[in-house]
Amino acid sequence: MARQEPDLRLLQISDTHLHAAADSRMRGVTTYATFLAVLEHAKRDRRWPVDAILATGDIVQDESRAGYERFRASLEPLGVPVYSIPGNHDDPKLMSEILASGPFQLGGELRHGAWSVVLLSTFLAGEDAGGLGPARLQGFKQALAAHSTQHVLVAMHHHPLPMGSAWLDGVALRDATAFWSIIDANKNVRGVVCGHVHQAADQTRNHVRFLSTPSTCAQFLPGNEFFALDERPPGMRWIDLYADGRIETEVAWLPQDRS
Ligand SMILES: [Fe+2]
Repeated sequence: MARQEPDLRLLQISDTHLHAAADSRMRGVTTYATFLAVLEHAKRDRRWPVDAILATGDIVQDESRAGYERFRASLEPLGVPVYSIPGNHDDPKLMSEILASGPFQLGGELRHGAWSVVLLSTFLAGEDAGGLGPARLQGFKQALAAHSTQHVLVAMHHHPLPMGSAWLDGVALRDATAFWSIIDANKNVRGVVCGHVHQAADQTRNHVRFLSTPSTCAQFLPGNEFFALDERPPGMRWIDLYADGRIETEVAWLPQDRS
């Protein structure tokens, strides 16, 4: 029997933290080099090509135009649509200039088969924490109503559930209660994916899957009260969304012994 194909196949990359200079290092990692290594790894995977790439924020660390241009130039040759949302380190204005045309889309929605992906900005100017606020919460409600016949995956930068790390949970999504109450009132949301936390998580809350995804650069030590780095390598997440509402997903890590 032929294997069932997903309705929508995504590759999530997150927290690339690129800089104006290609050789800039952050937390011991040359972020542009690890970003390229992640893309190369993905291209060699049996699941490539995907229907879309989902970039869940902290694309550029130093709010530089050159960083966003390099991000775009690295992804454009892949011939795959790229959907982005800002993280706390991003400059949404530069993103709207550089990552919102051609195969690139900033925020909004992606509708494909039985699925819709709703992209939410949780960016708050000058803050490391995230928030939606009344206007975005209202927009979220309307988006779910407009996609009520679809299975929905929500993508955002900040985590809307505690990760069990005091320092990280202090910079989470502030209005998570309001966010989840909207999801609870809409039975079609199947999953929520985020970045920001530089680690992998896979939980379920009231039948809704909650997934966090490692960074393409350095990782944070899970469950630690204070900031600490994990030794895990750069990572990415494959997401297969099926017509019956099922989510199949796997985090892939770069081989540790790469040179
Ligand atoms: Fe980050």
